[in-house]
Amino acid sequence: MARPYSHVSWSHECTERSLNRNAVTWGNSCGSWCWSSCVGVMVLEFMWWRHVLEGSGHPGLDTTGARGGALASQRPSTDPKERQMTVGAFLHPYAKPTKPDADYLCIVRGAGARVWDRAGNEYIDGMASLWYANVGYGRPEIAAAVAAQMGRIAAFHCFDPFSVEPAEQLAARLAELAPMPRARVFFTSSGSEAVDSALKLARIAHVRAGHPERTVIVSRSRGYHGVTYGGLSAQGLPLNQEGFGPFVEGMVNLPADDLEAIAAFMAERGHEVAAILAEPVQGAGGVHLPPDGYLEGLRRLADQHGAFLILDEVICGFGRLGHWWGAQRFGVRPDLVTFAKAVTSGYIPLGGVLVGEAVRAPLEGDDTWMLRHGHTYSGHPTACAAGLANLDVIDHDGLVARAGEIGARLFGGFRALAADGALAEVRSDGAVGAIRVAAGRDAFAVRDALLRQGVITRAVNDETLTWCPPLVITDAEIDRIVDAVAASVTN
Ligand SMILES: Cc1ncc(COP(=O)(O)O)c(C=O)c1O
Repeated sequence: MARPYSHVSWSHECTERSLNRNAVTWGNSCGSWCWSSCVGVMVLEFMWWRHVLEGSGHPGLDTTGARGGALASQRPSTDPKERQMTVGAFLHPYAKPTKPDADYLCIVRGAGARVWDRAGNEYIDGMASLWYANVGYGRPEIAAAVAAQMGRIAAFHCFDPFSVEPAEQLAARLAELAPMPRARVFFTSSGSEAVDSALKLARIAHVRAGHPERTVIVSRSRGYHGVTYGGLSAQGLPLNQEGFGPFVEGMVNLPADDLEAIAAFMAERGHEVAAILAEPVQGAGGVHLPPDGYLEGLRRLADQHGAFLILDEVICGFGRLGHWWGAQRFGVRPDLVTFAKAVTSGYIPLGGVLVGEAVRAPLEGDDTWMLRHGHTYSGHPTACAAGLANLDVIDHDGLVARAGEIGARLFGGFRALAADGALAEVRSDGAVGAIRVAAGRDAFAVRDALLRQGVITRAVNDETLTWCPPLVITDAEIDRIVDAVAASVTN
């Protein structure tokens, strides 16, 4: 490497880990004959399959070991019977249905910011799994809280007339943290459900306030708001929508950074708008920061035209931007806030909506009216217990403040690479960011090269890799990421 981008010597780490990687010790971590037999059968099946399809003289694992073998892109068989032999029962999310089980990296264990696959390879997780593991892996405090709650009662529903203590406690805690006064909390099990709930709450609140004509949801291009029909219809990533129509009516998607475009739309149809929906920092769309004054401009437009402002904080919430909420980072008061992911750091699925005063008031105006919206697991006590323990960890470990330090070190390292021309662009805020690879490089190939060096990132398109490490990542681990990126984009 021509020049060091961090404080850690790469060559030593690299040698050590490539040795580990090549020592494929099937079954070691599990110690069970049955497990290793299973894996053995899968591997043999995979090797056979590859051999048949590719006519390879050496169908086994390549020089990068199990990790490289799993990453090699495969041609799916056109024979349905052959396919059934290689694809497993698990239909993966956001994946090609033809991809064989053996091609996936199966993660079996985690601690701090590191995870291990079933071949024993270690990875530094540069993505907090899928933007959620803020407190890292293997936190005994959360496991203990979950076990204790399960010991009392694992689950009971919260439809009228029932309630559970962890949901009441977590709601009170989140209301205290909320970026708007006197919020209440509606719980879901995912970000998509949270977005759909926020859209429904916005519409029903207008109905209750005597404005049933306000049904339009204004959203931004590049925005990601999940995969259920409300959020899918509102999102601004057309590839995700392809083939899934027809969509929910009343969604208007406008250019992401163009406040004038939204102002013009509001001037014309503002009286029909229920809410403006925006991520503070757009995440899954490639990590795009709002232009200066943009979110404040959305707030102003919402106020001028009697619409609500929904901030989708499914990625930005819980410390990611160096504040509890993106709303606080950008000094904007929302009416509704969606959250999920890091509310439990993923230990148990949980999401929800912070419901501000302007939305509460019409819902609470008539004590004979009933909110006919709720999921079986809205307020799930074990999930809420995980949330309470997770918030304790974030507080205790000072992770909100740590986000800024992580971002400065990680993205500072990437910016040094960009200054040397090894990267085309770095975008970041707090501890979330993206790098655009230089022209002629493919982000998916760089991702795979990084995996072979034991670093997990996410390629969201062929030029962009995203970064969102656990907020417990150490400086040495950050430096290893930067060095691995340097090696991957300069070789
Ligand atoms: C901003 C945003 N909203 C909604 C969602 C959907 O969340 P989930 O995948 O938990 O349904 C995501 C997921 O990444 C997200 O980033």
